[in-house]
Amino acid sequence: MRNLMITGGAGFIGSNFARYILERYNDYRVLVYDKLTYAGNLDNLKDLMPNPRFAFVQGDICDAAKVREALETHEIDTIVNFAAETHVDRSLTDPGSFIMTDVYGTYVLLEAARTLGLERYHQVSTDEVYGQVLEGAAVETDPIHTRSPYSASKAGGDLMVLAYYASFGLPVTITRGSNSIGPYQYPEKVVPLFITNALDDLPLPIYGDGLQMRDYQYVLDHCEGIDIVLHRGVPGEVYNLGTGTETQNIVMARKLLALLGKPESLLQFVRDRPGHDRRYALNIEKIKALGWRPRHSFDEALEKTVRWYVENEWWWRPIKSGARFQEYYRAHYHGREVRPSSG
Ligand code: NAD
Ligand code: DAU
Repeated sequence: MRNLMITGGAGFIGSNFARYILERYNDYRVLVYDKLTYAGNLDNLKDLMPNPRFAFVQGDICDAAKVREALETHEIDTIVNFAAETHVDRSLTDPGSFIMTDVYGTYVLLEAARTLGLERYHQVSTDEVYGQVLEGAAVETDPIHTRSPYSASKAGGDLMVLAYYASFGLPVTITRGSNSIGPYQYPEKVVPLFITNALDDLPLPIYGDGLQMRDYQYVLDHCEGIDIVLHRGVPGEVYNLGTGTETQNIVMARKLLALLGKPESLLQFVRDRPGHDRRYALNIEKIKALGWRPRHSFDEALEKTVRWYVENEWWWRPIKSGARFQEYYRAHYHGREVRPSSG
């Protein structure tokens, strides 16, 4: 029996992971520990609340006393840390909150895991720590080369995790996942933003030339990869986790419009993100050797994701129409359009 604390489990991937674990292992208990920032949402966990093997505690991973209390009360043996500030654009306007949660918060969790002698600490990290990969694909031993405050903070977290392995022998593992898509993703991220804008016949803001490339993977493939590393991964090791194929943003946007039967005239080029990483690409041989394979192609992942947003307006419409999101959208996108030159 494992008692898992899933930090950040009220967010996108963490809530999918909590559901996945409860369905896959009928003797596991899950505690979601989450601060409920703008990105945390109890609607993501609504169906799990009645489950007697599920519990929720609202708390900040930077709060050492509260973390320890939750670990002890729920007899946790394993931490899976999803808690983070996650949006690159927000890290350009408020880097401090990223350093607090993604670096300091990770340290607080590691220290609690060490002093309580937990069986495993797993860190959910990102392919962004390698920086942009203009050619080929990043392997786990490649140097960290971060370019945004978000990726620098995530890299800081990774390095602290590895330090706790080397210095204290804490059994840690790290996955570095690629861009995930699927149910319950906050609509600031490109795919849910574009789907929900298109459904309302609003423009799809394409940064720069739209030729940047991302490895978009289905969220449940990401969850299964973390599960496999948790159970078969070697302590002290890092595992890349993605499909190993990349798609240009403009291609993704066109496919999404076609799936929704919406016109390409909704594509709106806007001023680029500063320091925008051109391409991420992962070599996934190491995790494949543990027996993991992505189950969804990009097209299948996009189709399932589009369908979920079409069928679940109850989930995203209150977020998008809320004052907090509207204010963010105005501040971030207003006046950013790039008009085609007439010459
Ligand atoms: P998200 O933004 O949807 O959710 C983050 C969650 O963390 C929210 O529920 C939020 O309330 C919580 N949180 C934030 N600060 C906290 C704090 N101080 N204490 C406790 N809880 C806090 O994020 P996501 O997209 O689900 O990403 C989850 C993890 O996966 C992150 O660590 C992210 O870096 C990593 N990751 C994400 C992707 C992706 O494509 N979304 C890809 C690779 C890795
Ligand atoms: O690669 C993994 C990372 O993927 C995770 O670690 C991050 O938490 C997650 O947010 C995501 O980061 P990206 O910056 O790649 O995701 P985002 O959805 O913000 O943007 C994806 C691509 O789409 C990127 O090239 C920027 C572009 N974009 C984004 C937005 C929000 C647009 O063209 N227009 C937009 O409005």
